[in-house]
Amino acid sequence: MSFSILGTGKAVPEYILTNDELSTMVDTNDEWIKTRTGIEERRVCKDETITELTVKAATAALEDAGVKPEELDLIICSTMRGENITPSQGCMIQKEIGATCPAFDVNAACSGFIYALDIADGYFVRKKVKYVLVVSMDNLSNITDWKDRSTCVLFGDGGAAAVLGEGDDLLSINLTANGNDEVLRIPHGTNSSPFYKHEEERAVLHMAGNEVYKFAVNAMATGIKKSIGDAGLTEDDVDHVIPHQANIRIINASAKNLGIPREKFFCNVNHYGNTSSGSVPLALDEANRAGLLKKGDIIAMCAFGAGLTTGSCVIRWAK
Ligand code: UT7
Repeated sequence: MSFSILGTGKAVPEYILTNDELSTMVDTNDEWIKTRTGIEERRVCKDETITELTVKAATAALEDAGVKPEELDLIICSTMRGENITPSQGCMIQKEIGATCPAFDVNAACSGFIYALDIADGYFVRKKVKYVLVVSMDNLSNITDWKDRSTCVLFGDGGAAAVLGEGDDLLSINLTANGNDEVLRIPHGTNSSPFYKHEEERAVLHMAGNEVYKFAVNAMATGIKKSIGDAGLTEDDVDHVIPHQANIRIINASAKNLGIPREKFFCNVNHYGNTSSGSVPLALDEANRAGLLKKGDIIAMCAFGAGLTTGSCVIRWAK
């Protein structure tokens, strides 16, 4: 017995940053961004804090699930950078929603949501929990190099949450990591120690886009295939794929490699860009609230990101 997803909820900042506005900031244009990535706009935090966004997503997911904060047994937040180094973002959410359960963060970059589901699975299997809240949220806008056109056009802020309850709808899950800080890295930037000898690097995202692209296309197909096989299913059994929303070309190539019809892949990368660990649950929530997911549907989810990490899983939709 593991879990079923009982409810989902999203939160994104109000401000919409269009490709045209970005073209006034760096040497780029709407056509390049749309053709190479599929992104038309993304959300960027102006007034919102990550705590406000995580709490909004959590509250919406709890409402959708019909679960009260005080019923929660665990909160896991996947994020690369919460409000503070400590306390964890999980503890900030716990405080704001009025829960009393343990709470912590996990950082697996864009694969964070699937990593958090895998951790939650362990708690359910050990019968330690009845209800778990997973919140996946990043605000990459504060660690983006806004002068680097090859990266600043790709990312956006936002994310979503899911409430998990006891059930048997997680059919398979797989994580991988391949330690590599060369192709994708965000350094800390500051070190307050007067004794520390190393040079400080700017705390912005550094990426070799082509390398990540090649890794991603292979990782998506390999991960989804393995999770489908582990669930005892075939590609034909899959009703929906919720892929990491990094680049429409990566999604198209994955669909082709897997032989799963492209229409089964849910995409909202055009509206949000890459929201890191928020990306997969944000897509899941929008598919859920659009009424696309029917009880019993088979859903494959897959993400990849810095680490380099990947996560994939197959679930049966329980709502
Ligand atoms: O969650 C994981 C996070 N990362 C990813 O998923 C990134 C995966 N990688 C990608 O999505 C793609 O590699 C990118 C979208 C980052 C880049 O697309 P690409 O087709 O691989 O382009 P490229 O890097 O090969 O660049 C092609 C050209 C270059 O010009 P030259 O050298 O051919 O003259 C770039 O300088 O496009 C230029 N370029 C741009 N032009 C206009 C790069 N960025 C831009 C830009 N606007 N924003």
